[in-house]
Amino acid sequence: MLSYRHAFHAGNHADVLKHIVLLECLSLLKRKEKGFLAIDTHAGAGAYELDAGYAAQNREWDDGIARVKAFSGLPRPPAVEAYLSFVSDYGRSNSGAYPGSPVLIAGSLRPQDRSVFCELHPTDFAALEARFSGDRLVRARRADGFAELKALLPPPTRRGLVFMDPSFELAEDYRKAADAISDAIKRFAGCVVVLWHPILDRAEARALPELLDGLGAEKTLRAELRIADSRPGERGMTGSGLYIVNPPWTLSASLRETLPFLSQALGSTASEATLLIDRDSPAT
Ligand SMILES: C[S@@+](CC[C@H](N)C(=O)[O-])C[C@H]1O[C@@H](n2cnc3c(N)ncnc32)[C@H](O)[C@@H]1O
Repeated sequence: MLSYRHAFHAGNHADVLKHIVLLECLSLLKRKEKGFLAIDTHAGAGAYELDAGYAAQNREWDDGIARVKAFSGLPRPPAVEAYLSFVSDYGRSNSGAYPGSPVLIAGSLRPQDRSVFCELHPTDFAALEARFSGDRLVRARRADGFAELKALLPPPTRRGLVFMDPSFELAEDYRKAADAISDAIKRFAGCVVVLWHPILDRAEARALPELLDGLGAEKTLRAELRIADSRPGERGMTGSGLYIVNPPWTLSASLRETLPFLSQALGSTASEATLLIDRDSPAT
């Protein structure tokens, strides 16, 4: 039974972090002509109205995209600029809607690229399917994104990006994410994988870094953005992180500029940005 609805969280600090990095990875993949397959394993509805419905209830975007737009304390790094232009261009032609990961991916594809979006929630899947029904580069599947990777990897062009953004509603999602990444890189060693995860005081979340280290992926990068103090027993998310396998060449350099900017734009005095680089990959 799925109760998570991404609309409640659309445009929050976690969306900003994951969407900037997703867009940057797609842009770096496009430095080569050869087409790629982008798989969004947990796609959501595709785009969200921020001023209406669920998103308007808690207005999480006030402390996310709205703060990044308004922040003028540092020059905007190019990856942030690219994201903000995408968001405002999309909003301008779609009644102010905020783009979720499928829209960011679909808007970045060239004719030689393809994408597959997986979503299990019936309502969000219906919205997703309707949104991309006329797009011949995109397939939307009402399917378990973890399991679907087995059928999709390796892609025919041997270039691919997996964006994995589970809701972590179920404790087993942490283990499933690690297993799916392990299987994905066995099937397709060069696959770029971007896993988003929350930072919160929950045993499975605390154990995730060790679980991911145990996968033995050679080229990895971790980016974390803590935006609030974490106190023992605190239940909410105090930040979030990305674990990236086979990061596109120069992604780490771009994150070195982007994370401190986000930390200042989004954080409190307790905020902290961390970048751990195992090794950059050559261009994939
Ligand atoms: C964090 S939201 C996705 C947000 C989206 N990636 C974005 O950035 O706009 C996670 C989504 O995964 C869906 N979901 C949960 N378990 C799933 C699974 N095993 N396979 C596919 N989708 C799943 C949920 O219904 C929810 O819409």
